[in-house]
Amino acid sequence: MSIKKKTKELLKLREKMQEGGGEKAIEKQKKMGKLTARERIESLLDEGSFQEYDLFVEHEARDFDMDKKILPGDGVITGTGTINGKPICIYAQDFTVAGGSLGYMHARKITKIMDHAMRMRIPMIGINDSGGARIQEGVNSLAGYGEIFWRNTLVSGVIPQISVILGPCAGGAVYSPALTDFVFVVDNVSKMFITGPEVIKTVLGEEISMEDLGGAKVHSEITGNAHFYAESELECFVQIRSLLEYLPLNYQKRPDIIDVKEPYKKYSPEKIVPVDSSKPYDVREVIKGVVDHSKFLEVQEMWAQNMVIGFGRIDGRSVGFIANQPMYLAGVLDVDSSDKAARFIRFCDAFNIPIITMVDLPGYLPGVDQEHAGVIRHGAKVLYAYSEATVPKITVILRKAYGGGYIAMGSRHLRADFVYAWPTAEIAVMGPQGAANIIFRKEIAEAEDPEAMREQKVEEYRKRFANPYVAAGKGYVDAVIEPEETRHVLMHALEVSKDKAIRHMDKKHGIPPF
Ligand code: HXC
Repeated sequence: MSIKKKTKELLKLREKMQEGGGEKAIEKQKKMGKLTARERIESLLDEGSFQEYDLFVEHEARDFDMDKKILPGDGVITGTGTINGKPICIYAQDFTVAGGSLGYMHARKITKIMDHAMRMRIPMIGINDSGGARIQEGVNSLAGYGEIFWRNTLVSGVIPQISVILGPCAGGAVYSPALTDFVFVVDNVSKMFITGPEVIKTVLGEEISMEDLGGAKVHSEITGNAHFYAESELECFVQIRSLLEYLPLNYQKRPDIIDVKEPYKKYSPEKIVPVDSSKPYDVREVIKGVVDHSKFLEVQEMWAQNMVIGFGRIDGRSVGFIANQPMYLAGVLDVDSSDKAARFIRFCDAFNIPIITMVDLPGYLPGVDQEHAGVIRHGAKVLYAYSEATVPKITVILRKAYGGGYIAMGSRHLRADFVYAWPTAEIAVMGPQGAANIIFRKEIAEAEDPEAMREQKVEEYRKRFANPYVAAGKGYVDAVIEPEETRHVLMHALEVSKDKAIRHMDKKHGIPPF
């Protein structure tokens, strides 16, 4: 046979395999408002950049008449490609083939491309759309998941790992996304849960829809499992492309510096931040004021909104922001916001992204609920993450920095490299009201007019401690800056710390308060 004929034969075979589960299954997929696995890869990657691996892999299951079944690609498409011109590895489960269920060879394809990503040191993207462990393959399917989880853990901190949930992701299958760095969900499409509605009905006698149990909104607003929420698959792919712009290929590289042509911009923080520290404002406006082109990519926007995290660029350099949000629960630290900040700090640190912290909080959220939910353990994660991080750490205290909140939010004591404060900063053990009530209790109680005395003492305390100058006088704050100068000061700090190099004590690994 001539090469031409053999090539023709290949093309025919390829075409057949690429049909996935066939017309009917594809029609069903479309009816559910979903793209096919192949369309997803094509839409996400740079045009024409996808190179497929293992198209001809077949399953080896024999039980339950599986030997009679042909499952093209064994229900998953794997390969390499580029996004924004940069290499990535990808897999996309094909729900049209046996519900994208994960059998042994399906898992082998995934682990093979994960190994490739690990060797090449490039980001790994997994698109999940699957009924979970392939029931007919029994323990072999479970083994497959275990192999994936093990790799997710080993490459954690080596290469960025992204999970996209575009269909069901049920049972133990959810743990691969949970082990990765960023989880993307799409309204009406993503469904993520450990035990499905059927099991809940059987065991608990309760009826619940898949959407209410583990839909995109549930994981974006309530559980915090998802980091990015989109209305459509195409919007989700735009988000993934945006995220990758801020990340390096692996932990040994730095994110690209982009020529921004915006060296100095003036903004008026006094229009955003009220001097009265009990008044709320949107800290995202402060962040947008300091980043290039006011472009801020917020992460976990809908969950634990008292903490704002996300990426931006300053003078072309990728940075991660951690900021208290005064317009939501006064920006307190609580169980969820602590988890949110701590994990993000660790991500930035792992991938050489400097951390900028903006502080304005009254402290940790008081209450039995929080105490019993483990605010001690969760709050400790923030201390651990800041202390451990070796990337440049720059902190700007905008207004309140009280008590444990002052220490936790990137303070000098946890080894921030630069601590700046606005003249509106109030750095103290607690707010003036609480402090006056405690330390002047006797004077207030014995006064002729206790209310007037209380006000007088609050004012006294405010004058003495609720400012940045006591901390600046001790060197805990490096400089009290004009708010308008914040971007300029941050640019300088990033420039002088670009070759920061420190090493911690040698050890196997620390034991963070997981
Ligand atoms: C084998 C499966 C499958 C599975 C779906 N299919 N899930 N085949 N193993 N786990 C097949 C169906 O038989 C069907 O095949 C096709 O995929 C499409 O499925 P439908 O049910 O028709 O689709 P839909 O109505 O959209 O429902 C989707 C679904 C449902 C909600 C995901 O299929 C479902 O509940 N599947 C089971 C989910 C589950 O409990 N998985 C195991 C979890 S335990 P045909 O041939 O008819 O087209 C687990 C353990 C992992 O994953 C542990 C790791 C540590």
